[in-house]
Amino acid sequence: MGLTLWRNARLATLDGQAPWGLIERGALLVDGAVLRWVGAEAELPRGLAVEAEHDLGGCLVTPGLVDCHTHLVYGGDRAREFELRLQGATYEEIARAGGGIRSTVQATRAASDEQLFEAARRRALALMAEGVTTLEIKSGYGLSLEHEARMLRLARRLGADLPLTVRTTYLAAHALPPEFEGRADDYLDAACAWLPRLHAEGLVDAVDAFCERIGFTPAQVRRVFEAARALGLPVKLHAEQLSDQGGSQLAAGFGALSCDHLEYLSDDGVAAMARAGAVAVLLPGAFYFLRETRLPPVEKLRAAGVPIAVATDHNPGSSPTLSPLLMLNMACTLFGLTPEEALRGMTVNGARALGLADRGRLAAGQRADFAVWDAEHPAALAYRFGGGNPCRRVVAAGIERAP
Ligand code: NIG
Ligand code: FE
Repeated sequence: MGLTLWRNARLATLDGQAPWGLIERGALLVDGAVLRWVGAEAELPRGLAVEAEHDLGGCLVTPGLVDCHTHLVYGGDRAREFELRLQGATYEEIARAGGGIRSTVQATRAASDEQLFEAARRRALALMAEGVTTLEIKSGYGLSLEHEARMLRLARRLGADLPLTVRTTYLAAHALPPEFEGRADDYLDAACAWLPRLHAEGLVDAVDAFCERIGFTPAQVRRVFEAARALGLPVKLHAEQLSDQGGSQLAAGFGALSCDHLEYLSDDGVAAMARAGAVAVLLPGAFYFLRETRLPPVEKLRAAGVPIAVATDHNPGSSPTLSPLLMLNMACTLFGLTPEEALRGMTVNGARALGLADRGRLAAGQRADFAVWDAEHPAALAYRFGGGNPCRRVVAAGIERAP
């Protein structure tokens, strides 16, 4: 395959030290699935055999978005629970009464493969329409070997069917299934025993857990992480979302790729994450939808040099959003990120939270994953909110996908 030239664009490369890594009148040279050359058009190397050329008419180009934390495969919805919460019930109370995650487990187990797949596919298409080219999907609504396997297989199938990279995360330690009521440790024995079988089937890229009063204790999470470590699998953690459990320190001790949520993160947690090089994945959708008031310690994360990512956390209970751009906006308005930090959070740092170094920037050698926007300046991506999708074209692994 010959080279493809994408020219006449303003590039937000997010590479190098300049703000946004901005290149005016830039061009990208794509060789198969990889970027061969990125720079100002005037400096384009001569004598190359360019097979196809696209004039982008001055549009903005960014790396493809990386949504590094979602629970995209599930049955049912939780609109009724939303009503209850608005009447005063808390997320924790609903969970303790057997609703919450458990109600989605019931709906997911009851749904057919095709129902789950079609619903997840529609959600993925909505994310892709706003520029997503890499997507993480967690299990955690199956909570049995059969149903966790089903969720992970469907996630893999989504990645095979769509022009999109899907990374799968095993989250059996999300909640206690009803058949293990009062036997959390027995459940974790089972969940740890399922992991090697799922991994042997090629279904697991990383392992996650919900470390919380309504989830699992650090001591319990440690067992799951040890099972992951025995298989050489990286870990990440839903940590300090509703209370400070010290989960981040535990995860850091296992060299976690990321700790996610972090509203209640302590100073010790920040320091542990900095030492371990773990990414802080901020989830403004869940903060907003659960009407939380405690903010993640963004300034302390910055000061400690912890990379910050932003994701949708798409799930039916705490963040039923399918708009990555709205999350960029909320990361700025609710958490105080700069628009550039927010975009880096959903590109280069999102990729890092998945252990992927080959994407998230526009630079030679990176995957040719990029999005073309009807926007003058990259700050506009975080500026608008709700409706009017400015994404015009998306290229994944060098191939433009049909609109
Ligand atoms: O990331 N906190 C735990 N897990 C999800 C919510 C899952 C649910 O409520 O269904 C989250 O917020
Ligand atoms: Fe989550």
